Amino acid sequence: MKWLILLFLAGMSLALARQTAQQLPVLPLSALPDGFSAPSGYGDSIYPLLGDAGLDVTHYDLSLRSDPRQDTISGRAVLSIMALRELNQISLDFAGPKVLGVKLGGRAVQHAQVGEKLLILPPTPVVAGTAFTLTVAYSGTPALQYDSSTGGGLRLGWITQAGGSYVLSEPDGAHTFFPCNDVPADGASYSLHLDVPAGYTTVASGVQTLQVTAAGRTRTDFELAQPIPTYALTVHVGKLKLETQAGPAGIQIRNAFPVDLPDDVKATFAQTPAMIGFLAEWFGPYPYPVYGVAVSADPQIPALETATLSTFPARPEQPTTALHELAHQWFGNSLRLGDWSDIWLNEGFATYTELLWAQSQGQSAAPLLERWYARLARTPARGLPATQSLQLFDSSSYFRGALALHALRLNVGDGRFRRILADYVGRFAGRSVRTADFLGVAQQIGGQTALDAMQPWLVGPQLPPFPKGFSRSSPEGF
Ligand code: TRP
Ligand code: ZN
Repeated sequence: MKWLILLFLAGMSLALARQTAQQLPVLPLSALPDGFSAPSGYGDSIYPLLGDAGLDVTHYDLSLRSDPRQDTISGRAVLSIMALRELNQISLDFAGPKVLGVKLGGRAVQHAQVGEKLLILPPTPVVAGTAFTLTVAYSGTPALQYDSSTGGGLRLGWITQAGGSYVLSEPDGAHTFFPCNDVPADGASYSLHLDVPAGYTTVASGVQTLQVTAAGRTRTDFELAQPIPTYALTVHVGKLKLETQAGPAGIQIRNAFPVDLPDDVKATFAQTPAMIGFLAEWFGPYPYPVYGVAVSADPQIPALETATLSTFPARPEQPTTALHELAHQWFGNSLRLGDWSDIWLNEGFATYTELLWAQSQGQSAAPLLERWYARLARTPARGLPATQSLQLFDSSSYFRGALALHALRLNVGDGRFRRILADYVGRFAGRSVRTADFLGVAQQIGGQTALDAMQPWLVGPQLPPFPKGFSRSSPEGF
């Protein structure tokens, strides 16, 4: 019975999402060359045409040659792919650079670039369940991809400006600089080989494994063994200075700052080691061997939780923003979204850690809870599953999501709340998650009453009343 309610909830949110899903202008169908067919997309409820449901990309090996004084890149991407069904055609997301050639295994195959897709025709269909590699060589200018989830004001993807290049992709910018299955559900590991003019420094997601300078070029390699969503991959190239911090539990911390960055911006990150330790106590081990931040020369961009190397603007931020991006390494990067409609599993959870941190510093939760509620009270209310791209990063994802967790906590008590979160992370680390996965854990540990507590926040659209005693959080009995 309880599971039925869960299923019903999940089904309802899906149905809602499907109804209002926006179609992307990904593909002018009239432009399809002979022999190619229209790809069907992965079927995400917010971005249905991105990705391909027949592919599981397990690893991307990317070689990128770039120069921060120009906006062109050339690359070679080797994708390790598992066919999830028989493939008569393989479709990848890719926008911008011109594809010079595609090989399947070692053999050249026919391809077409149509809209934001790279379509590939295997000479004979790829059999379901086979693993294969695709090699794509390309060169050109990454597309100008504007962020549909925030109204188009923010450029996404590979960006070159002010003497540097950096990558900021959430939600759909990754395919501006490498061909990929651009849906968060399909996580993959990465090998990066980055080639830039000598005198520039390159940092990227993962552990640095090689750096050589020869003939006026510097090559730097990175390895990321853990699967992450495509949007979480970052690369920064610039006149950068690397600074290390002593990390807890053998975690290497390296921050990349523009050489002329003022100290007050660096101060934002002073507490990173303590924050890693704090979050690890709540959610289990930090998921990667390395962490740090890369500060872009641009003071205007919002901070993004790029994997193992969060990206920040060149302006001072609150330390809670540093904590928020760090928390996304668990919520978003390690546990990745199975569908964009579940974005509150990223933003609501990362936001809630700001309250946990405040309490650990001896501060009251009350001002935060009130501030979150006030933000919600002056914007249109909605249930937690997002139904269109403009909702992905609205205040409901962040604050209604966080308040739903607080409602759960007050209902089940601190001990069980802590177990629910730890269990959820332990069970789904390195995997994709849906709202029903979290509700399943909450119900298993907290019972029906846990679901009842979250229900009004989940379903909506009305904003539940600010409950009496809501901000009088239970005592810190940890
Ligand atoms: N995930 C980011 C955060 O809350 C917000 C965000 C979404 C973003 N899309 C972005 C930031 C694109 C920079 C660029 O931490
Ligand atoms: Zn966030």
